[in-house]
Amino acid sequence: MTEDRWVTASAPGKFVVLGEHSVVYGKPALVLATDRRITCSVRRSQRNSLNGEALDLWRQPHFQYLTRDMGYCLDFLTTSEIPSGSGMGSSAALSAALALAIRTERGEFPTELSLVEEAYGAELHAQGNGSPMDASACVHGGGIAVNIPEEKDELWTIRRGERTWKVSDIKTPDLSFVIGNTGIKAPTGPQVEKVRRYTKKSGFATDIIEEMGMLTMEGYKALKSGNKELLGRLMTQDHKLLSILGVSCKELNKLVYAALPYSYGAKLTGSGGGGCMVALTDEPDKVADIIRSRGGTPFIMKSGSEGARMEVGVAKGSPMEIPMI
Ligand code: MEV
Repeated sequence: MTEDRWVTASAPGKFVVLGEHSVVYGKPALVLATDRRITCSVRRSQRNSLNGEALDLWRQPHFQYLTRDMGYCLDFLTTSEIPSGSGMGSSAALSAALALAIRTERGEFPTELSLVEEAYGAELHAQGNGSPMDASACVHGGGIAVNIPEEKDELWTIRRGERTWKVSDIKTPDLSFVIGNTGIKAPTGPQVEKVRRYTKKSGFATDIIEEMGMLTMEGYKALKSGNKELLGRLMTQDHKLLSILGVSCKELNKLVYAALPYSYGAKLTGSGGGGCMVALTDEPDKVADIIRSRGGTPFIMKSGSEGARMEVGVAKGSPMEIPMI
């Protein structure tokens, strides 16, 4: 029998202001949630299905992980405003929204920390390695800082092996960011693995990671105080370091350099290899036009959106772009 009791939750996407990749090695990072969300509805069923099609859990590691200890099947409906494989947090947002919907359907009242642990577990199951940064941003929303020692507003600390990530809530002034999507889908796992191999082989790569960490510490003060000139400069510098690590590409560079004359700074955001760049600017419409004229898709960002939350109604279940693993 299929019960007609849908439970619906949503979670925001995110973009990384500074610190992607180096955060995997325990360095600091700054991330903002976006106003683009993924919504998921679940209900008990006699078989697992996703948007009306049979769901093979072996092909969907996020769903597989998040339903690992369930004694029954579920129907899932999803609606996404976040392009997949783009560095805008589609897989972390999906994991966060699914975790909240699944736990609530079971009659639980999950804490934010338990949702982060679930979402991070799903990300690791899918991509193999990484930090809890994206999961934390998509569960908590707003702005988060990772591993900033002087930040007092600690939310949680997550440990994995010898790495520790202290995650804090940060309040940021109103800043205007434009994201440019190259349209090239680039899953996170291989980019993280590429950097891991580089750091194993070369002390130079490890030095770059160190430098990115120091730069992000400076960026934290600039972000908090709204010093756009300094923050922008650091973002552009970070893009150069990420390029040296090998995670940019010519399409990302094209959008970054096109945005720079009208921006305080610009860089790739997320794991790179394709996906998105982000520019800090006072002229968002102009930057959006430039990005469009260079073949990218712009999103003018409202940052600081609410984290994972319950929703009224049922997700549309439009044919879903499944997150890249
Ligand atoms: C991807 O949004 C961010 C990376 O640092 C990976 C991670 O932190 O897990 C590239």
